[in-house]
Amino acid sequence: MKLVKLIANLGYGTRKDVALMFREGRITDPDGDVLYADDKVPHEHIRIDEEPLDPPTGMVLVMNKPLGATCSRKDIGRVVYDLLPPRYRMRDPALSTVGRLDRDTSGLLLFTDDGALLHRIISPKARVAKVYEAVLASDLRGDEGELFGSGTMMLESETTPLEPAVLDVLAPRRARLTLTEGRYHQVRRMFAAVGNHVEALTRVSVGALTLGELRHGEWRALEDQEIARIFEAPARA
Ligand code: URA
Repeated sequence: MKLVKLIANLGYGTRKDVALMFREGRITDPDGDVLYADDKVPHEHIRIDEEPLDPPTGMVLVMNKPLGATCSRKDIGRVVYDLLPPRYRMRDPALSTVGRLDRDTSGLLLFTDDGALLHRIISPKARVAKVYEAVLASDLRGDEGELFGSGTMMLESETTPLEPAVLDVLAPRRARLTLTEGRYHQVRRMFAAVGNHVEALTRVSVGALTLGELRHGEWRALEDQEIARIFEAPARA
């Protein structure tokens, strides 16, 4: 792909803007030598204003989603895309969240511009494990794990039973729930169905991928071996 198109597709500007950046000498190699639009240069050798280029298409990001931000692109109010560089919204192919977390849920949120990978992660057939930690309003009764794991639990207004889920009790009002599907408000609705209420919810891992050191609102790009961890089994609590 021609450099102007490649850089424009990463959201740095229109092709006209990028052509101007070349003319201004802002696009260089790592030694500071000016690059020209027709040069053939590997992605990792391109600098704009001395900064390395954003990751190429196929990028996967992990964010520790803060409370109060929504996963929609257009919502009024704070959206998770506001936490990324503004040019990330201009990328082509577009960057999307991999599934969604509610406004009131924090924790591990993935983004990618790779449609096939996104599908592989969210497809119910892939059974990628999503692990949530919930703080509950009331003590657990003791029989929730059996019901959640049964494969026959029905949520209100749904026509198919839930896939078996794994409940790990951490404290009388704290539990870890591992799901292999992602129905609307699923964790909150599962606890509501057993007469409880989720007061705080955070996603702690997707597959074996965890947040590591990322604090609320922070994000970073994933390396290939970290992307592979998404498809591995999570550690049990
Ligand atoms: N289940 C919920 O209830 N909310 C989320 O954000 C994710 C799973």
